[in-house]
Formats: sequence, C-alpha cells, structure tokens
Amino acid sequence: MTKVLMVASEATPFAKTGGLADVIGSLPRALRAQGDEVAVVLPRYRSISLQGLQRVYNDLPVWLGSTGYPVTVYLARSADVPFYLIDCPSLYDRDGLYSSSGKDYPDNAIRFAVLSMAAISIVRHIFRPQVLHVHDWQASLVPVYLRRLFDLDPTFMGIRTLLTIHNLGYQGRFGREVLPQIGLDEGVWHPNGMEFYGDLNFLKGGIVYSDAVSTVSPRYAQEIQTPEFGFGLDGLLRLRSDVLTGIVNGVDYNEWNPETDELLPAKYSADDLSGKRLCKRELLKEFGLPVDHLDRPVIGIVSRFARQKGFDLIAQVADDIAAEDLSLIVLGTGEPQYEQMFRNLAWKYPQKVAVRVTYNNRLAHLIEAGSDMFLMPSRYEPCGLNQIYSLRYGTIPLVRATGGLDDTIEDGTGFKFWDYSGHAMLQMIRHALAVYKNRQEWLRMMRLAMQKDFSWDASAARYSALYASLTGFSASANTA
Ligand code: ADP
Ligand code: GLC
Repeated sequence: MTKVLMVASEATPFAKTGGLADVIGSLPRALRAQGDEVAVVLPRYRSISLQGLQRVYNDLPVWLGSTGYPVTVYLARSADVPFYLIDCPSLYDRDGLYSSSGKDYPDNAIRFAVLSMAAISIVRHIFRPQVLHVHDWQASLVPVYLRRLFDLDPTFMGIRTLLTIHNLGYQGRFGREVLPQIGLDEGVWHPNGMEFYGDLNFLKGGIVYSDAVSTVSPRYAQEIQTPEFGFGLDGLLRLRSDVLTGIVNGVDYNEWNPETDELLPAKYSADDLSGKRLCKRELLKEFGLPVDHLDRPVIGIVSRFARQKGFDLIAQVADDIAAEDLSLIVLGTGEPQYEQMFRNLAWKYPQKVAVRVTYNNRLAHLIEAGSDMFLMPSRYEPCGLNQIYSLRYGTIPLVRATGGLDDTIEDGTGFKFWDYSGHAMLQMIRHALAVYKNRQEWLRMMRLAMQKDFSWDASAARYSALYASLTGFSASANTA
C-alpha cells in the first residue's frame, strides 16, 4: 500500500479538455482498489462551482520567490477520492483551462508554477504522501522545486516523484525571464537542467528531476526515445531510459459502456445489437444526414483538432473518401485550419459529410454508439482513449499504427495503416469497407471488439507496483 498524491491540470468530472482528464478522473479509484491511498491536487477553475465544497485550508502559504499567492484549499470527493482544489481566482477563475479564443494565457508559467508550489504546500500541511505522481508539464515543477528548493527540508525527505508524460508535444516552454517569477534561480539554466534551445522547458525539468518517468503506452515509451517522436527530448529520454516505462491507460466502463450509457437514445450489448441501429438512426438525424440508407457505413471522428491527430491526411484524399459509399460524421474543436477543412467537406458533400465544431460529451457518446467505424489517423498518439471506447461500443477502430493505437488495436478488432500518407489511409478505409459488406465477418469483429477488456485493473496494478518499487517495497512484498 502506497500513499500517493497526484498533481494534474484536469480531471473528470471537474474540468476536461482531453484524455488526461479521463485518466485523472478514473485511475485514482482503480488504485484504491489495489490498496493504495490516493488524493489529487487540481486548480479550482471557473467550471468548478464552490457550492457544496468543503473549505479545508485558508491562506495556504504559496510563495514563488518573494511573491505570495493567496490560496484557499477546497475539498471535493469524486468516487470517494479526495480532490484538493487550489482556489486562486486571479489565476484560475477564467473562461478556459489554458487559453481563451485560441490564445494561451500569457501567465501560464505562473499559473502552473503556483499549482506545483501549492501541491508542495499541501504535502507540508494537509496530506503527506510517499509518492508524488505528477502529470504533464503543468505539474512538472513539483520535482524541480523539491530537488532545487527543498532538498534538505526534512518534511520532504524520502518522498519519491513519478512524472507521467501524456503528450510530449506539449512541453511548457517559456522565456528565461520567467525564472525569478516562478521562484527558481539560474542554477537550472543549463542543458542538463531546464534550458532547451534558449527557452525554459517545464517538462524537461520534470524529466530531469523526477525519480521515475512513465508514459501512457509501451509503444510510445519506445517512440519518444527516437528523433521522429522525441520533440527534441529524445536524447534526454534515452539517458533516462533505465527509469522510463510505458503503462497503457485503462478506461472507465462506468462511463463508457453501451449497456448502461444514459446519454444514448437506446442501450445495447453484444447479444442484442438492435439498440445500436437505433443510435445510428438518431446520429444521422442529429447531424442532418439521410436516414434512408441505414446500411451505409458511418465513419465517426471525435477529436481535438490538432496537428497530432493526422487530419491533414483526410485533406489529401477527401474526394476519394467522399466517392465511397459511406457517411462521415465529425465532432471536434481546435485549430481553425482543420475546422475549415471539415466545414468545406460538409459543404461540398452535404449528403455524406457532417461536422459539428463544438465540445459536447453527449454527442461524443452518440458518435461512439451510432457509428460503424471510428477513424484516428494520428501522426502520433501517446495512448488514445476513443479507440478503446469504440471497441466497447462495437464501433470498429480505423487507426494509424502508432503509440497506444498500435498497442490497443489488433487484427480482428480493427484496421491499421502504417505509412503516414493519405494513400495508405485510403487503402485501409477501402479494405474496411470491403469487410463491412460481409455481414457475418463484420459481426464477428464487432463481438470480438466488444469483449476486449481495458478496464483499469491491470494498468493500476502496474502503477501500484511502480510506486512500491520507488518506495523500496517490492510488489510481491506489498501483496504478501
Ligand atoms: P487527447 O487527450 O489527445 O485529446 P484521447 O483520445 O486520449 O485524446 O482523449 C480524448 C477525450 O476527449 C475523449 O474522452 C473524447 O471523447 C474527448 N473529446 C475530444 N474532443 C471532444 C469533443 N469535441 N466533444 C466531446 N468530447 C471530446
Ligand atoms: C494525451 C494524449 C492521448 C492520451 C491522453 C491520456 O492527451 O494525446 O493519446 O490518451 O493524454 O493519457
């Protein structure tokens, strides 16, 4: 049993922009089932109402250099896991989590430095763990502060740190001038510290100063050690390969399960798929596509519109895709160029392509349920959750074989392509469409996909063993 404090910038049901929130919202509970004691530190964003929350600490001391930040700590419980919410309205009471109208907040370095320093203050005053498990660049200053500022402080002695990288593409890069504002001195400004091509790099600091580093699939753990996927940090990651592991994400089947999903117009299971057909009809209606050809395959997409997700491949072969007998239904928000591309496609092929540029959880569930296939042509994908949800919904994933997509999808439960090219993706889509015509074969694939189990148990056990190895207890001693 290990006592763990997680630090992250998003978690369901409190605040979400992507898969990180799903993980932080569900992994702690799974760890409790393994016998670990887990609490989470999260900013109190505007989307989190204070109503009903318990105020547990007034004026938590949070100092970055000589500047003090007024912080109140609130406690919320989700599935019995304590979430310590850092309330500092001048920093977090805003429209977005990291940006608004597509522009990053200019004080993000300070906002997440305060999150990290507040977490350290929580360790001192409220919850002292054996392991601090920090996620992504937003929490990466926790190990930096511990090593650079509190190395000799007995309060923190023996506490081990684990950094999980959910996406190496986001590193938290800022100018050198923020150093004093985040309470650090020039001692970290060197290539073996936080300096990175003339910038200050938060994630690099996390990788350098943590006791161990993990990422969210074994394949991605290998990939990030190569120049192609390393975003300039592959050399450092190779240096740290002895403490670098990949643990594939689990998913929360309480939320993503067609047998119990309250957000669907009809529920269904592998034994009775009639509800899936109803969902398909509703989906087509909802997106304004013709419902007279219910047998025509629907390909769904739910995604952040970012370069990572590979939608430029769709632009390369859009007309060829539209020429096939299929419907394409897209839900997403993000970079304007992809929004525009999908909008143009829907305008050009109104009978076949429909897009909603918005963030909407109900529609995300409806697309998972009502589609026949789910397309993720990612350039890179640390883990990916939607393909795992798709499996459970009997919606066959069409993926590029990279990172977690390659680790979670196999022959028989989905289709893959390797080359990052529109042509390779088109060939895969055509192959899937041909198999779809063979109803028996398709049903066999659906049933196999729906049986796959990616619940958290196995992955939580691996985190649990990792914590135990960090604190010096072996996993077997732990369960003895
Ligand atoms: P990433 O974290 O890189 O965005 P993941 O596949 O790990 O990718 O997780 C994405 C999560 O965000 C899923 O839960 C998905 O359903 C959700 N999501 C993404 N875009 C939208 C959207 N436009 N509306 C609703 N949910 C979305
Ligand atoms: C990141 C990755 C995604 C992963 C998620 C949760 O946002 O892009 O692949 O599933 O984090 O770990």
